[in-house]
Amino acid sequence: MPICGATNSLSLSLRIMAGFYGRSMTQCLMLTTSFGLCLISTLAELQRFEQPVKANGSLSFLVVGDWGRRGTYNQSEVALQMGKIGEKLDINFIVSTGDNFYDNGLTGVDDPAFEESFTRIYTAQSLQKQWYNVLGNHDYRGDVEAQLSPVLKKIDSRWLCLRSFVLNAEIAEFFFVDTTPFVDKYFSDPEGHTYDWRGVSPRKDYLTNLLKDVDLALRESIAKWKIVVGHHTIRSAGHHGDTKEIVEQLLPILETNNVDLYVNGHDHCLEHISSNHSPIQFLTSGGGSKAWRGDIDELKQGMKFFYDGQGFLSMQLTHTDAEIVFYDVFGKLLHKLNVSKQLYSSM
Ligand SMILES: *[C@@H]1O[C@H](CO)[C@@H](O)[C@H](O)[C@H]1NC(C)=O
Ligand SMILES: *[C@@H]1O[C@H](CO)[C@@H](O)[C@H](O)[C@H]1NC(C)=O
Ligand SMILES: *[C@@H]1O[C@H](CO)[C@@H](O)[C@H](O)[C@H]1NC(C)=O
Repeated sequence: MPICGATNSLSLSLRIMAGFYGRSMTQCLMLTTSFGLCLISTLAELQRFEQPVKANGSLSFLVVGDWGRRGTYNQSEVALQMGKIGEKLDINFIVSTGDNFYDNGLTGVDDPAFEESFTRIYTAQSLQKQWYNVLGNHDYRGDVEAQLSPVLKKIDSRWLCLRSFVLNAEIAEFFFVDTTPFVDKYFSDPEGHTYDWRGVSPRKDYLTNLLKDVDLALRESIAKWKIVVGHHTIRSAGHHGDTKEIVEQLLPILETNNVDLYVNGHDHCLEHISSNHSPIQFLTSGGGSKAWRGDIDELKQGMKFFYDGQGFLSMQLTHTDAEIVFYDVFGKLLHKLNVSKQLYSSM
């Protein structure tokens, strides 16, 4: 059989389709030729997208999270400043860390909230770029498949949302991870909310496969920068604090694979925490609209910056340097960090 192995899941066919555009099929066929068999794990790749860099090989983008409120709670003000900074940095794309539509995601592909909270809010010229979105827990309270549907791309061509995927941008590779299904309490104690778990059950298999896929994608990555994006926190001093399940299950994989940055939302604040155990920098950008002023969980070891108001962050990457800047609702620079690759590689 030229196409190797077989699993019983529906997602296999999707993965084969994804592989058509990615590397998995070629690898698979090469392996088949050389060894006469192919590991199923090579098929279990996350869907991949390509993002070109600037002419000089650098890359810049913005990260915003926890935003869709039809412009209220300063969402429009944050959007305005994103537009200005986006223009200044000549950004390549925008990343959303999830909780795209409050309070309960989208009701369907025809939910007017999509245009009211996205299309008509992020109107600046510089924001007319590709948006790479993940899902947050609030998105799971609506029709998740609507947010994942290609129909939205017809309404607004910037939109791209998948549960988990890989974005290859030459000097950097981004690993978008669907973190909501990790969190036990949404299953055991949903507090009256209904979550749309279609496509996630059986949960145990979903999580096992996801962790395997992320580990494999990270291990195979040869990019200078490995950046993981998820909705939930790993390290946070905000309202929700650390996410226990993700610290236990995902963080060890990120540490083993020398991930540089973990970028999340969920806590409605901006923060930067560094780790004692690894070079991973933990960045929260969850200030896209309603912020929880004063709601600090605890003071964290390694905390470099915490701001419990609205805002977003920008990132400029070259082969050797990452410059990350946090901004408030007025576009004022709040905190800046530089990460240099040469430092780590000389260690
Ligand atoms: C690369 O080009 C962009 C303009 O597209 C510029 O903003 C940036 O500063 C340049 N970066 C380097 C490292 O030269
Ligand atoms: C909007 O931002 C300003 C400045 O940070 C803040 O004082 C105000 O409370 C914010 N409004 C809301 C509704 O969050
Ligand atoms: C970060 O690096 C940039 C150049 O890439 C430099 O202009 C800036 O001063 C540095 N910032 C810090 C805080 O070291």
